[in-house]
Formats: sequence, structure tokens, C-alpha cells
Amino acid sequence: MADKLLSQYEELKAQVNAHNYRYHVLDAPIISDLEYDRLLNELKRIESLHPEWITSDSPTQRAGARPADRFDKIRHPAAILSLANAFGGDDARAWFERVKKIDDRVEKAKFVVEPKIDGLSVVLHYRDGLFVQGATRGDGEIGEDITSNLRTIRAIPLRIPVQTIDDRPQTVKSSMVNRPPSYLVVRGEAFIPNKEFEELNRKLEEAGEKTYLNPRNTAAGSLRQLDPQLTASRPLTLLVYQIVYSEGGKVPTSQWEILEYLKALGFPVTDIAKRFDDLDSAISYTETWGEGRDTLPYEADGMVIKIDDLNLAADLGFTGKDPRGAIAFKFPAREVTTTLSDIGVAVGRTGVLTPYAMLEPVEIGGVVVERATLHNFDFIAEKDIRVGDRVLIKRAGEVIPYVIGPVVDARSGKEKTYKPPTKCPACSQAVEHFEGEVAWYCVNAACPAQLVRNIEHFVSRGAMDIVGLGIKIVEQLIEAGLVKDVADLFTLNKDQLLGLEGFAEKKAENLLKSLEQAKGQSLNRLIIALGIHGVGEVMAGDLSRTFGNLSDLSKANADELQQIEGLGPNIAESLVDWFSQPANQKVLKKLNAAGVWPVAKKDEKKKEGALSGFTFVVTGTLPTLSRDGVKEFIESNGGKVTDSVSKKTSYLVLGENPGSKAEKAQSLGVKILNEAELRKLAGE
Ligand code: IVH
Repeated sequence: MADKLLSQYEELKAQVNAHNYRYHVLDAPIISDLEYDRLLNELKRIESLHPEWITSDSPTQRAGARPADRFDKIRHPAAILSLANAFGGDDARAWFERVKKIDDRVEKAKFVVEPKIDGLSVVLHYRDGLFVQGATRGDGEIGEDITSNLRTIRAIPLRIPVQTIDDRPQTVKSSMVNRPPSYLVVRGEAFIPNKEFEELNRKLEEAGEKTYLNPRNTAAGSLRQLDPQLTASRPLTLLVYQIVYSEGGKVPTSQWEILEYLKALGFPVTDIAKRFDDLDSAISYTETWGEGRDTLPYEADGMVIKIDDLNLAADLGFTGKDPRGAIAFKFPAREVTTTLSDIGVAVGRTGVLTPYAMLEPVEIGGVVVERATLHNFDFIAEKDIRVGDRVLIKRAGEVIPYVIGPVVDARSGKEKTYKPPTKCPACSQAVEHFEGEVAWYCVNAACPAQLVRNIEHFVSRGAMDIVGLGIKIVEQLIEAGLVKDVADLFTLNKDQLLGLEGFAEKKAENLLKSLEQAKGQSLNRLIIALGIHGVGEVMAGDLSRTFGNLSDLSKANADELQQIEGLGPNIAESLVDWFSQPANQKVLKKLNAAGVWPVAKKDEKKKEGALSGFTFVVTGTLPTLSRDGVKEFIESNGGKVTDSVSKKTSYLVLGENPGSKAEKAQSLGVKILNEAELRKLAGE
């Protein structure tokens, strides 16, 4: 009876291991997770009846080892070497010329090209097919015993050859596969695939915990955990590429066959390795991956070009610790660490304050980088980035370099926590924050950093509609010191204009005429032109009709403003803030003095359209319309846009990554639309 159960148990164990192999190595499961769990549970049940049957290759033995208080040292059976680098085709060809001189057989050598995964070198020992020990590379002679941690990596076979339930490629003689050396030591690279890394960080972020810097550091940290349970929770995997040592059995003597052999034994092996008859073909294959590196599921910092004939490679010997028979063809680096000397703040043309990193100059992929973006102030706080930190910088493709995060282990204690500015660095006026947005803004209309954009908006068609005042001229006027705020436009004279490059009589006269005409623009257009955050066309119309002139509007408090339907507390605050800024008051005074002081026409008609009578709130990123774009769209169709959801809200327009507004809308029963539905509602 027990005999029968034992053979059932052995059969089941092989089955579970085979499914594990299909899932974690071949990436081609043939049963569902549920079925897998069922098999595993049955295995556990038998093991609970007969604990004496449990062997170390049981799939139940992957995690569960107790935390260690330190790692033992392990002497590697042969040196775990590193590689010399080549930084391009010429370097690789120079290597070829050098080794050719040492041995002329190199002339006719074949080459194997493999990805150089940016992970952690690990060494796995198998005795009589059983995984018995695993180590880090250490100094190449002695590594650390991380067996319990490595056991948790499901791609690592606990017994070789792995029994399969499928048609594993039969490229290797079955006698070799079925009787591997009695002692086999292989080497591979452990890593966390990019997708799994992002998923891990996403979960951490959701849980409000600190995220990891990059897959490599995370993989290294995970493997050096004293508690294997922690390692087990990290999505580690590996690819194997070398036989370091073997005893009691034959192994292939070419790199290409080694890869096939390891694959046949059940190890995970790269599927993008290729063998070439000449170096130039190997180099062009390498370069193809240099361009396509983003399509790889892991971070590769290059490709390794290896002489296929391992006896020849061994005969070539070493330079230092680097075997001459292979070379690491490095891709341009994308991540480096450097010191964050300070944090600067740039004021964008829309008034957004963006912090940037001032760095100790560092080369990334052939470019010296001194600045990198820090995204926004929340990012600095979330990542706890301090001035003086060593920081990890990434520069990939066309993206501007950005800071990934601080290297916390490198801290000396002298680093300084950063406080965001309370004043605009360009004009020293107080900065503002609007609910639901991460950004801080400078709302001073005369802020030099925003002047071009402010004037551009002021003169635009939907605002004061001043013809003949393009961005080039605006820049010229500012550069010549003639215009320091929008009001200065109205005191320009002909002589001043004629002093500018490209201005003749006619052009100057035309511009002055346009400016003169603009003085007659309506109050609502002037309100739009002032560019107050959150105030669009429809709102400007309401304000204009309600207050009739700018001096009354400027004196209105938040309560009075909120009497207007659809004008919520945020826009009210934005208006009050704007009118309270001394710099803005000065601009208003100057406009008044220049005669730009329209009063509302009583007969002005409210804009009517398909969205008239509806109040909208927008949250998240929409597929085609920007923040301002959607506002304009709604308002031009007669709708009203407010910034907080209330019972009065008719619709919430929902995009991707919405904030808390979506929940609020749901709880209040406010109808929700996407961009397409909004367009439909507007009759598009
Ligand atoms: S071969 C003699 N092949 O790159 C064998 N290394 O400095 C020397 N690496 O420490 C290594 N992928 O951690 C080799 N396909 C690959 C590799 C690889 C990643 C790592 C390995 C080594 C470093 C080279």
C-alpha cells in the first residue's frame, strides 16, 4: 500500500516539477494555476503523511528554509572570471587582431553572441543531478553561500535533467542528457525581468512604500537577504550560460553546444544567442541588439562575443582576470550615479515650477550630463532625495536625463533635506498650488520667466486678438526691454518699434493700429487674456456680466465669486490670489492708465451650444484633449467647467489615472463620461 503511494508520490513530484519547468523556463504552461495548485496540494498532503519521503528536489522545498544570521563562504571549484570590455565594433576588431597574433586558429574561429544581462552572477552546484549548493561570485575565488535563496527561484531546476512532459528539442545526444556529470557546476545571471520589476514597484507605490531603483540593485539585494522568504517574494529568474566545472561525465567543448546542452538538461538558456562564422557578422548582430535593447524583457548592458571553440578559448589564456577568448561588447551606458550638488527650479512658460537636479558632470552614453529633471516636488519628497546625495541618473534614447532616486547606502549624513520654494525663483512672488494638481505655479502675469507665453496668450485670437504680434516680435520687444508686462504693449511708440530689426514704417504703423483697436476689446476677452488659472471663455463671460468692470471684479471675495453658478472654491481662490498679487495689481493699473479698461456690455449674450446648462469636471489624462483643450472644447460648446465635483456637477469627464474626483463623483451619483462620449454629447 505504502509502496503504491510512494510511487504515486514520485510520479506526482516529477509532474509538478515538469509543470514548474514549463511555466518558469519555457514560459509555456499547459495547465492552469488552479490545476497546478491542486497537484501541489496533493503532494503536500502525501508529504504530511510521510515526511520521511521528502527529498530536496521536492517542489515544496523551494522556500521555507529558516533565516540565516550570516552567509557562509564557498570556494569556487574554478575561478569565476569577468570579461574585458569593448565599446564598439573597432574595439572588438582590435581584440580579434590581438588574439589572432597569439594563436592563428582564431582566424577561422566561430563566434557565439549572447546577451549580457545586467544582473548578478551566480554559481550552481549539482551532485548526482541534485541542486546542492549555490553561491554569489564574490571575489571570483570565494563567494557566499546563498543556496536557500537560490532554491526559491523557480527557474532553477532542483534536479537535472528535468523530467518533461513535452517535446524538448533533441539537439543533444540523449545519453549525455540522461547521465550528466556526477558533479556539475554551472554559472548564470540572476535578474528581475523589467515587467516584473515595474509591477513590483507599482505594488509598492500602491501600498505607500518606497520603490526600488532598478532591476539590478533589486535583484542583488533580494539574493543577499538573510531570510529566504523575502527572496521568494521577489520575481527573480535566471539564464545559465557556462559550465564552470564538471567531474564524472563528459560535457561539450564548444560554447554553442554548451548552450544546447544546458537547455536540454532543463536549465533556462537565452533564446537570442546565435553562432557566426566570422566576427563582422557577430558584430552586426550585436549592434542590432544595441538598437533593439528596449524590446528585450530584461536590462542588457551589452552582448558577449565568445570564441565558440572552448579549447581554443582556454589556450588563449588571460589578461588579469579576463579570459582572452571572449569580450563584453558594451552598449552605451544609460544609468550612472553622480552627486546631486544642488536642486534648481525652472519656471516654465505656463508658470509651472519644475525642480531639476544640478549634478557633478557625468558621462552617460557619450554625453556629459550636468542637469537632470526631478519631475516635481512630490517626487523629491517621495523618493527622499537630498542635496548632496549620490543619485542614480538615467538617460535613454531621446528622453531627457532624469533622476531615478538616491543611493541611500552612500549617504554620509551630511546630505540636506530639500524644501520647495515658497517664492518664484524668477520674480520672487508667492507660488500657488491648485487642488488636484501636483504642480506649483507662479501666477504673476509679469513674471519674466513666463512673459513670452503670457503675452502670447494675451494677444492671441481668443483673447485680445492683436494682429501682427507674433512670438518673434514678442521676443524682440522683451529682449529690447520695451515690454516687461502686457500693459507695456499699449505704451509702445513708433520710434521704439523702428529701432527693432525688421521694422519699417508700415509694419510699425500696422502694429500700433492693431494695439489701438485692441483697447476696444470686450471685458470678457480681457479677462480671458489675463490668463488666470482655471478661467476660460465661459467663466470670463459670467464674470464680465456679473461684475461689469475689472475694479469690481478685483475686489470680489471668494464668497461673492461663488455666487456664480459653476464657479467652485478652487477657481474662486485662484481669482482672489491673482488679484491680490501686487505685480498683477500693477499691471491692472497700467492697463487702466493706457485706456485698456473695458466695461461689460449689458446686451452681451451668453455662448449657447449643445453643452449649455451643463457643468463639467475633468479628471485624469484624456486620449487626445489636453487640460486646456478639453476646457476650451466644453466652453466653446456652451458648457461650464469647474474644478471640484459637487451635487451641481452634471458630468465628470474621466481620463486615465484619475484622482479622487472619480470616487467622489461616483458617491454623489454624478454621471461619468469619457472623451468620446463627451464629444458625442456635444454633437460631434
Ligand atoms: S561570460 C569566462 N556570458 O557579465 C566567462 N558573462 O564581466 C565570463 N554576464 O560577471 C563571463 N551575461 O556576471 C558571460 N552571457 C554571459 C553573461 C555574462 C552576463 C555578466 C557576468 C560577468 C560579467 C562580465
